[in-house]
Amino acid sequence: MSTSRNYEREFVRTFFTSPTAVEGNEDTAKLLRSAAQLSGMEAPDTWIPDNEDATAPSMRSEGVSNIIEVVSEHGATFPGEIHPRVVWHRDDPSKRYQGFQQMLEIADPGNGAVDHIDGFVIPEVGDIDDWKKADEFFTIVESEHGLEPGSLSMSVIVESGEAELAMGELRSEIGAPSNRLERLFMLVDGEVDYTKDMRGMTPTGGLPEWPELRHNTSRGASAAGLIAVDGPYDDIRDVEGYHERMTENRAKGMTGIWSLTPGQVVEANKAPLPPASGQWLLEIGGETVELTAVDEGYEYAGDEVTLEPTGDDQFRLKTGATDQTLDESALQEVVVDMTAYISGLDDMVDSMEEFEAAKAAGKGAIAMTRSATLIIDGVSVSIQTDRMWDEATYQAAMTPISLFQDVYENRPDQHEELAEMYGASVVERAMAVGTDD
Ligand SMILES: CC(C)(COP(=O)(O)OP(=O)(O)OC[C@H]1O[C@@H](n2cnc3c(N)ncnc32)[C@H](O)[C@@H]1OP(=O)(O)O)[C@@H](O)C(=O)NCCC(=O)NCCS
Repeated sequence: MSTSRNYEREFVRTFFTSPTAVEGNEDTAKLLRSAAQLSGMEAPDTWIPDNEDATAPSMRSEGVSNIIEVVSEHGATFPGEIHPRVVWHRDDPSKRYQGFQQMLEIADPGNGAVDHIDGFVIPEVGDIDDWKKADEFFTIVESEHGLEPGSLSMSVIVESGEAELAMGELRSEIGAPSNRLERLFMLVDGEVDYTKDMRGMTPTGGLPEWPELRHNTSRGASAAGLIAVDGPYDDIRDVEGYHERMTENRAKGMTGIWSLTPGQVVEANKAPLPPASGQWLLEIGGETVELTAVDEGYEYAGDEVTLEPTGDDQFRLKTGATDQTLDESALQEVVVDMTAYISGLDDMVDSMEEFEAAKAAGKGAIAMTRSATLIIDGVSVSIQTDRMWDEATYQAAMTPISLFQDVYENRPDQHEELAEMYGASVVERAMAVGTDD
């Protein structure tokens, strides 16, 4: 039995920050106002009107008024959750007091925004005692305004060694009678300040990648039933780099990532969703090449690999410096080793349904077969792989489907785009998988 969660959402793909007040614009709330009206794949799962680092200190008081005004006006129709970030610092009582005042004002029911506010984001937290101080302020805000205890969720930015260590204590602290840390929701990395806090240095001055922090955050979230989110990717026009980062993160179980621009929101909303169709890959000399679907199978169109029949049922396969003459079954074996397959949503659903049917028929383990015809240098090679599937395989394979189902359930505004991407019948089948038990 996994740790029970306090929130309905199991996945957050996007954590989108917007400056709350920008000097020089005729309307200082311009960015807030446009972000509040996003929908579909352009709207984030969580939107963070950011009254901390994204907003100049001199504009933060106006930022609070802007949050109240824009969220009151557009909050009811905004499709994601809204979690403003307020100021806070583990070493600075005056910052903590300011953060408390900001929450108190934004959450005042008389101001009309709180009905659409899901929680607040607290930056620069320190050790677990500091998290509890922030939590106590939430309790006071709720009590002061007659809000239901625990109704405002708390997310934190993990940007110090102290906060990183505190994540290891959550499992034993959450639920203690002396706090209300059950209100915790997202653990969000903040690599820039973390680097400063850790005194990290690189020759180029670039940000270290901190895979350990991301692992620890994902582990902390998993152990405490929370949601892990990676920090900002500030090379905002580098779409490929952003995708590489998200791919690395997902392998660690960290599905969410910060988005700084509306363009990043779209990328990060789509990236964790399964592809619409499967893709065969051929690995050649350390490089991965996508094969093209043609009527007869999947074709390799490059010239790094050559394959020709030599008579006597033998084939000559040349890749880089390797030159081999093989019979058909040896060729099939070599080609299987060179290929990889990325499942599409339809493949995933097929496999899940096949295992569910086998389970219903009383089988605990089955051989799941995948076969294809690959065309290399005009020569067809039929390949087949068998993988053992048991309950554990099935449960692990469920993660991308659970993500899909979570998105579908929580984001009705994305239904149309999902149906366009996958086709209505695959969407319907994907929603039915895993619901038997
Ligand atoms: C970095 C930044 C200044 C780049 O702005 P930019 O060059 O205008 O970015 P884009 O060209 O991608 O923006 C496209 C549009 O979206 C708006 N936009 C950009 N980022 C936005 C954001 N985070 N929230 C709301 N709207 C945003 C822009 O104003 C622009 O609107 P326009 O077409 O009406 O002019 C801006 O994205 C930003 O302020 N991001 C947030 C920074 C932040 O949160 N920092 C704290 C993290 S530690």
